[in-house]
Amino acid sequence: MTQPAPIRRPRPLKVLDLFCCQGGAGMGYFRAGMDVTGVDITAQTRYPLAFHQTDALAFLAEFGPGFDFIHASPPCQHDSDCQRLQGNTHPDLIAPTRDALQATGRPWVIENVRGALPKLRQPVMLCGAMFGLKTYRHRYFETGGGFTLTPPQHAAHTAPQAKMGRPVPDGHFGQYVGNFSGVPLARRVMDVPWMNRDGIRECIPPAYTEYIGRAFLAQTALEMAA
Ligand SMILES: C[S@@+](CC[C@H](N)C(=O)[O-])C[C@H]1O[C@@H](n2cnc3c(N)ncnc32)[C@H](O)[C@@H]1O
Repeated sequence: MTQPAPIRRPRPLKVLDLFCCQGGAGMGYFRAGMDVTGVDITAQTRYPLAFHQTDALAFLAEFGPGFDFIHASPPCQHDSDCQRLQGNTHPDLIAPTRDALQATGRPWVIENVRGALPKLRQPVMLCGAMFGLKTYRHRYFETGGGFTLTPPQHAAHTAPQAKMGRPVPDGHFGQYVGNFSGVPLARRVMDVPWMNRDGIRECIPPAYTEYIGRAFLAQTALEMAA
């Protein structure tokens, strides 16, 4: 008797999550059905997926070409208004990250904050309200390596915003930055229940990268069908 042929299921696509912190970005790709590996120079005991503690660009140079898609969130302190006021001089990793991503030949996205806009090339903006979240938290995404992203419609901001880092009055959208108060609320609003304050103030809501991950999967499926 002949054996039935095994059913071949497509393997989950492998995503490299560079500068991963506690995994806001990584969790979104995971929720899109992808197999995620995070890299951060600092120990990240709350990162919920496979993790390597090492320098992101060194890891990228060695292992980047083995991934299907690469996300990078280089530290944004260099570009945030409060850090500039404090005179902090963190290294600017956006240009070296872009060069290293290009060298892999893989599709990629670099995420950053408004202050980094002059350094990002034709970035797409994502806003929490696009995903039904009660925070605006605009973040900017430059794409490359053949991947392009179309954002959802950006509706007008109708809810008032609580003051930066302050408790959030009823009916307001929160800004969870700096030493903000209200970790339990921030966890619910951004859907990051495993994070502490340190992770939350740095993170992008997983909804953003779930959207990006699904867009990448749709683009890949179209390319394979063509
Ligand atoms: C803005 S946070 C990333 C937030 C993350 N994408 C999220 O959504 O939760 C930047 C992270 O970069 C890490 N970092 C800074 N320099 C690094 C380097 N050279 N290699 C790897 N990670 C680094 C920091 O430790 C920090 O956790």
